[in-house]
Amino acid sequence: MIRRASISDVPDIMALEKECLPHPWDKTAIDDLMTLDRHMALIAVDDGKAAGYIGFSWVLDECEIGNICVSRSFRRRGIASSLLARTESELAALGVRKIFLEVESDNAPAIALYERSGYVRYSGRKDYYGQGRDAELYCKKLPDSNCEI
Ligand SMILES: CC(C)(COP(=O)(O)OP(=O)(O)OC[C@H]1O[C@@H](n2cnc3c(N)ncnc32)[C@H](O)[C@@H]1OP(=O)(O)O)[C@@H](O)C(=O)NCCC(=O)NCCS
Repeated sequence: MIRRASISDVPDIMALEKECLPHPWDKTAIDDLMTLDRHMALIAVDDGKAAGYIGFSWVLDECEIGNICVSRSFRRRGIASSLLARTESELAALGVRKIFLEVESDNAPAIALYERSGYVRYSGRKDYYGQGRDAELYCKKLPDSNCEI
């Protein structure tokens, strides 16, 4: 089940971040997803356990995905794909038309996920994550959008 996350989900989301990401967001950054305008997190719950989450924010018709992660034991079951699809439907209802994200160049699983989900690479940033750690920049235009990247 995927649902909007609330402040009571912050500990589970922090645990997911810690398990999945080399530089997990701190509590303030996660709290912000629940409390600030134009910020949202969705959480995937499987048999009562937090299996994955996605956090994003938007301004006017543009969204930035901040983080997405799925706990190791729940991977390759379509959870991240479902989180992205639900994100897109939430955003479309809010009038958002373009979704942007960055991913580290050597993160093959995430790049495969994004490309399979219809995200298109439009640029790159050398040393974006630190010396020798480049970023790939991806975007997806939601249906009915005439926007240019
Ligand atoms: C990337 C991540 C979110 C994918 O989560 P997931 O729930 O396993 O992804 P899905 O099951 O929805 O996978 C969808 C597709 O993405 C691709 N994919 C996902 N993981 C992959 C892997 N390890 N290797 C190759 N392709 C992969 C496949 O095309 C997959 O479809 P398939 O299983 O039918 O072949 C997960 O591996 C993760 O949490 N990684 C660590 C955190 C991270 O790097 N987040 C992204 C930061 S930018």
